[in-house]
Amino acid sequence: MSIVCDFLVIGSGIAGLSFSLEAAEKGEVCLVTKRAIEESNTRYAQGGIAAVLAEGDSFEAHIKDTLIAGAMLSHERVVSLCVTEGPARVRWLQEQGAQFDKAHGAGEGSDLDLHLEGGHSARRIAHTADMTGREVERALVAAVRAHKNIRVLEEHMAIDLITLAKYGGPEVCAGAYVLDVATAKTETVLARETVLATGGAGKVYLYTTNPDIATGDGIAMAYRAGAECANMEFYQFHPTALFHPQAKNFLLTEALRGEGAVLRTTRGHAFMKAHDPRAELAPRDIVARAIDYEMKRTGAEHVLLDITGKPPGFVEERFPGIYAECKRWGFDLANEPIPVVPAAHFCCGGVSTDLEGRTTIPGLWAIGECAHTGLHGANRLASNSLLEGLVFGHRAAIAMKRAESRQIPDVPDWDAGEAGTSDEAVVITQNWDELRRLMWNYVGIVRGNKRLRRAARRIALLQEEIAEYYWNYFITRDLLELRNIATVAELIVGCASARRESRGLHYTLDYPELDQKQARDTVVKRGVPAYLRGR
Ligand code: FAD
Ligand code: SIN
Repeated sequence: MSIVCDFLVIGSGIAGLSFSLEAAEKGEVCLVTKRAIEESNTRYAQGGIAAVLAEGDSFEAHIKDTLIAGAMLSHERVVSLCVTEGPARVRWLQEQGAQFDKAHGAGEGSDLDLHLEGGHSARRIAHTADMTGREVERALVAAVRAHKNIRVLEEHMAIDLITLAKYGGPEVCAGAYVLDVATAKTETVLARETVLATGGAGKVYLYTTNPDIATGDGIAMAYRAGAECANMEFYQFHPTALFHPQAKNFLLTEALRGEGAVLRTTRGHAFMKAHDPRAELAPRDIVARAIDYEMKRTGAEHVLLDITGKPPGFVEERFPGIYAECKRWGFDLANEPIPVVPAAHFCCGGVSTDLEGRTTIPGLWAIGECAHTGLHGANRLASNSLLEGLVFGHRAAIAMKRAESRQIPDVPDWDAGEAGTSDEAVVITQNWDELRRLMWNYVGIVRGNKRLRRAARRIALLQEEIAEYYWNYFITRDLLELRNIATVAELIVGCASARRESRGLHYTLDYPELDQKQARDTVVKRGVPAYLRGR
């Protein structure tokens, strides 16, 4: 039996939740999410949401900062609309119950305390201490759970999109096949409109700040269904993740550097000024590359982040979550420099969309980190991601509310064919490790033609094995995630190979200079190798 709804939303981060709340005013929403509803990248966001909220700040300044960080590849129209719609979206979040820190001495409903982060020319980051994502997720989940028009299916993982072209119809998306993880049964969810809000793909790399859900499922599903994807070579590495074998690359927010934290080599030398006049507050691509350079130069396994110069109590009060987490791993952030390394953090590319989140397949939309809207260009400005999820969640909901209703077709249920139970699950762990390691070593912060060719060859081999396993055995969440990170890896390597210059996050030893003629997006579609397309 199929589940039928008006809007199928895949993913419960800031984009999926905020979209659902608005769309539910028009029709029935079915929200599927592959783990508990709160589990998402959103939940772990520390720094906050960038928006022009202070008197001395301006839309022009936020637009300029975004374009500079994006190495002039961002789409100006998208930047302008995200920035100008930002303040209203932050207020909407407050109306949903999210509490942001207030400026000292400010009264009820008045000024927010705003943080400064790298690449920003003004304080404009609204935050809840250093646990902004947790507060945003809390407020939105509570509102979603209270809404009678939203049905939530937790522990349900979308496997693939249903496109009518596959059944001899027009190229329209009509929902998705979804794995109920508890029963291992596959359900057919049919919808008038299907929205991908599946977040990023940090797990494609060995070291990442992202939680386990970040396996690029939406991007991989859209690509398999024939949708266009773009700019996948621009994977952002956050400069400062905690270096500790068991800490799973816990993030140390950029706001620490905004408050004066200094990056030092293990011998104590402050090195950022030698790399960029903006020093610790240069955009992330520059800081991450500088750290990579210093680690390679000195042979050290990490560098140090030092915020010991602050008055007593400052760090504990302003960054309570990070202070406590560092303590848990044996470090006193207020009184000693902390070992840090860069780690994969944010996918700037994704499924291509228009200004309202429509993909190139009718009936299929993409919002949040899985989408490529054009906002981030070659490098995302800090704290512009939660902003993008909110703005596009809202814009897509408005567009869908205005659109005419599509018919819900009848499609066959999932066919498991001759699949059996596997006694070789080790294939999954082996390929999972190999893929993530090769992406880290060959397609990381610094790239080159030879490394990209090596990576492409190995990914193709791994994909062959994964496909064989996929068709012969019953599917599991682990297998689906492995298949998806392999697809995302293929797209990153394909796009990186097509770009013959260094720009923003894509730095290659073979083409170290920026080339104005390549100020174009890289597009890729199933059956069409990646290429740069003019605007
Ligand atoms: P997510 O919040 O990642 O949600 C994706 C959802 O999709 C999850 O619920 C997941 O379970 C679900 N899902 C995925 N695949 C499937 C599937 N196949 N089937 C069903 N469900 C699926 N950005 C900022 O702007 N400011 C910050 O301060 C900030 N700090 C960050 C700190 C950390 C540690 C990290 C990791 C990221 C940070 N970011 C920050 C980035 C930002 O958090 C994310 O880009 C943003 O939250 C993405 O939101 P989203 O709704 O698109 O996806
Ligand atoms: C951080 O707090 O440093 C992360 C902010 C972001 O990823 O935008």
